[in-house]
Amino acid sequence: MEILSVNGPHRLTGDVTVRGAKNSILKLMAATLLAPGRSVISNVPRILDVSIMTELLRRLGCEIDYDPEAGVIDIDVPEEPGIQADYELVRAMRASICVLGPLTGRMRAAHVAMPGGDAIGSRGLDMHQAGLEAMGASAHLDHGYFIAEAPDGLTGAEIHLPFPSVGATENLLMAATLADGTTIIDNAAKEPEIIDICLMLQAMGAQISGIGTKTLTIEGVDRLHPVKHRVVGDRIVAGSWAFAAAITGGDITVRGIDPQLLPHVFEHLRAAGAEVSVLSGSADTEGLVAGIAAANEHGAQDMGFRVIGPQRPHSIRVATLPFPGFPTDLQPFAVALNAIADGVGLLTENLFEARWRFVHELARLGAEITIDGNHALVTGVDSLSGAEVEASDIRAGAALVIAGLAAEGRTEVSEVDHIDRGYEGFVEQLQSLGADVQRVDKPEPFDIDSLA
Ligand code: UD1
Repeated sequence: MEILSVNGPHRLTGDVTVRGAKNSILKLMAATLLAPGRSVISNVPRILDVSIMTELLRRLGCEIDYDPEAGVIDIDVPEEPGIQADYELVRAMRASICVLGPLTGRMRAAHVAMPGGDAIGSRGLDMHQAGLEAMGASAHLDHGYFIAEAPDGLTGAEIHLPFPSVGATENLLMAATLADGTTIIDNAAKEPEIIDICLMLQAMGAQISGIGTKTLTIEGVDRLHPVKHRVVGDRIVAGSWAFAAAITGGDITVRGIDPQLLPHVFEHLRAAGAEVSVLSGSADTEGLVAGIAAANEHGAQDMGFRVIGPQRPHSIRVATLPFPGFPTDLQPFAVALNAIADGVGLLTENLFEARWRFVHELARLGAEITIDGNHALVTGVDSLSGAEVEASDIRAGAALVIAGLAAEGRTEVSEVDHIDRGYEGFVEQLQSLGADVQRVDKPEPFDIDSLA
């Protein structure tokens, strides 16, 4: 069993560069299915989820040339891709569901294994289903598979999402690009990753207006063509480093990301007493859509920000919300910051109902946290103390490592695969920032069954 062994307390100082967003690249890879031929995507992060998506697309008949070092993936989509996403891949990566929209749009059918409940709540697919049905598909569950069929092709429809779901917006958007007529998605998600996928689809020949707003209008076209595209920077990885600086009293400069992607994150870090400054190349483009388009075209190497952490942070009040609100994926870092802050902090989780699993692990480090429904009341302690803890998902895992760096003594984080799914070279990056952290092989934990 591989674990991460962390020795604290340790300030993190230095520079990191982030690559493309996990939550964008997976969908961009799925979107290539909409056009036969060779698409090339750059700024691809070297993470496990990209490898899982690569395998999924291979099984659908795509030929893929992936250069993880260069961060470039070349996807050759056949005229007749397969239509089935197997359970073994979907269970490993829930985001596999994003092939549903492109396959139904282009192949008129998709059989995608239903993801089981995962560590952060039950996450339904009802909006994906209702939207495809509004476009004329039949959709039902059969033997654990979500089956969507539209033998005569999809037709444009007016779809109102009860909640701005990221996944539903993406699936319905991709499906609509090849539908007959106009689709309007109202109350659509506005995350930067949605903007990124809209820009790539436009470059493929899709007709989309309202990009970056809550109403997307898509005029269906007969055919899309392959594309070259650069992935938007990973605002969640960038935000993780920003919190790492604030939590460890460090000084980190994050490059490769447009600071416009993190509005509320900076606000909360400043409230915690951190100094946040934007790098000079960052202010060139006004507006989010223009900024993402410019970074797509020219890269974002000169963009970024610097966070200098306070000696001890003040506690903060954070409520997670759809973009541009505070991202739910950074919530564990905000909890970790409050755990060592001066005062009592409050976290309200508005997106996923069961995203508190990691709180129990943080309590093993000595954090004082009371959960009441979707609120977590965190009383800051003077210091945490290292302990053995388990990562329950990608962000919780990374936040536990950062909390371990603020704790006295050794923290051992198990289930590190989760972290590898979303953070490229996490350990190496931490080491380059001065952290005392190693991957260590440990014997498997005691097997209770052996007593039976
Ligand atoms: C994506 C991100 C995830 C992020 C989340 C919210 C990826 C791979 N994952 O997840 O990291 O935390 O956005 O920013 O991009 N819901 C329904 N019915 C539906 C769809 C969603 O009830 O049909 C609910 C979910 O259960 C959840 C909430 O809506 O409680 C938000 O889900 P959604 O925005 O769809 O998140 P994902 O796309 O799964």
